[in-house]
Amino acid sequence: MSKSEKIIELIFGKRGSGKSYLAQKLMAGHRRYLIYDTLGEYKDGIVIQNLQELKPFWHKVYRRNFRIVYQPLKPVQEFESICELVWECENMAFLVEEIDCFCSSLSLGDSFQSVIQRGRHRDISLIGVTQRPHGIARLITSQAKQMYIFNTTEPRDIEYFRQVLGENVVQKFADLKQYEFVKWQDGNEQLEIGRA
Ligand SMILES: Nc1ncnc2c1ncn2[C@@H]1O[C@H](COP(=O)(O)OP(=O)(O)OP(=O)(O)O)[C@@H](O)[C@H]1O
Ligand SMILES: [Mg+2]
Repeated sequence: MSKSEKIIELIFGKRGSGKSYLAQKLMAGHRRYLIYDTLGEYKDGIVIQNLQELKPFWHKVYRRNFRIVYQPLKPVQEFESICELVWECENMAFLVEEIDCFCSSLSLGDSFQSVIQRGRHRDISLIGVTQRPHGIARLITSQAKQMYIFNTTEPRDIEYFRQVLGENVVQKFADLKQYEFVKWQDGNEQLEIGRA
């Protein structure tokens, strides 16, 4: 079981920029995880595609180590049920692909909100991945401890990062090579450039 601090991390970038590749590497350090794999990109774990199959499996393994890749057939409809399982489970990592689809300010589910706001106290790490930064609820960005931002060229995304993280982050974009990201950490003035 990972003893590291449980935090919220976000990964931003255009199609093919290397988000899921990085996310997979971040997950490798976790012994108990569920990946909400909306695009069918992950292989590292047992792949399950419906709730009927997931629930009995989950009840067998949730006290032990597990690596579950959940590929929902109806991502929006099933998301809150998965968040309920995660919230009840505690002490695990939860990776959400296309997280912007589940957090428009009008439709933030109760369990997802609990995971975001109080997950730390239950040892739940949340890793969110998205191509659309401006679609992310402020509730999530305000709680995020680390953000990985791949090269961004869309004007409204640049403006978003300028407002949320500041001009120094935006200025780094021009230096980024393929698969490189700017790593922002809450409370740390220093920005890092990295690659998975
Ligand atoms: N650091 C890296 N080194 C080598 N190859 C990489 C690296 N990062 C990503 N790749 C490769 O680049 C391709 C695209 O990466 P990835 O699937 O992670 O992009 P993505 O941002 O998740 O894209 P999408 O938005 O379409 O899901 C993959 O084939 C992946 O293996
Ligand atoms: Mg991806």
